[in-house]
Amino acid sequence: MSIVELREALRTTGAVRRFRSDPVPDETLYRILDTARFAPNGGNRQGWRVVVLRDPVVRRGVRDLYLPGWYEYLAMRAAGLTPWAPVTDADAERRALGAVAEMATAGAARPGFAEELDQVPVLLAVLADLRRLAAVDRDNPGYAMVGGASIYPFVWSVLLAARDEGLGGVMTTMVVRRQDAIRALVHAPAELVVVALVALGSPEVPPPTRLRRDRVEAFTTVDTCDGAIFTIDTGENPRDLEPAGRGTGR
Ligand SMILES: Cc1cc2nc3c(=O)[nH]c(=O)nc-3n(C[C@H](O)[C@H](O)[C@H](O)COP(=O)(O)O)c2cc1C
Repeated sequence: MSIVELREALRTTGAVRRFRSDPVPDETLYRILDTARFAPNGGNRQGWRVVVLRDPVVRRGVRDLYLPGWYEYLAMRAAGLTPWAPVTDADAERRALGAVAEMATAGAARPGFAEELDQVPVLLAVLADLRRLAAVDRDNPGYAMVGGASIYPFVWSVLLAARDEGLGGVMTTMVVRRQDAIRALVHAPAELVVVALVALGSPEVPPPTRLRRDRVEAFTTVDTCDGAIFTIDTGENPRDLEPAGRGTGR
């Protein structure tokens, strides 16, 4: 793959949540995992584990564990919050969660990706082995982030490698809200935690390739967080530039 093709792939690989029913051959899934295993990770400890979820009963159980988090997410998003942000307005979050039942009713009336999660062609549970995470911020007060950074690049590589096979997919995290139950469902030993579910399949419709993201200037400064905005003169008329956007996801 040339550099340009790689850049294009990085700029245009969006979330795919609607799939055709065609199965994904095991050979294809194997190739995807075989490519993704080269993802970067702390100290090359490769702490990821993957469980291919095939049993309809387990899949249904996973779906059932996904839904409560999903409706909580929708309720918080509808209230204009970033769901589960570590720094947030706790009162506003509590108020927002009052709408969870309403979201569940709407979901039951119009089933979408979440309600039909058990039907996706490929469903992977991705787990992290806590003995193999170089979590350098483990002992810091506050919110620890670094451990996940040894697993999520692998997940992104799964999604990029899937695209290279003509497939689409999405990383999801709602089941992590029900960690004990999902661990029990997939028989995870004590040292493994579930960090994501990945759905893959043939996209039902051509996925949008124009993704909404903020511009570089919105998140990059020089020297300090309050330093000058990092930018270059592109010669473009700022009015012609894509509007900044925060995709809300589904
Ligand atoms: C850490 C992480 C967690 C996510 N969790 C979910 C999820 O639980 N359910 C879901 O439908 N999408 C989930 N997504 C997908 C995001 O919603 C998606 O990447 C984002 O909205 C951008 O979509 P786009 O690439 O199509 O523009 C997650 C993505 C990431 C990176």
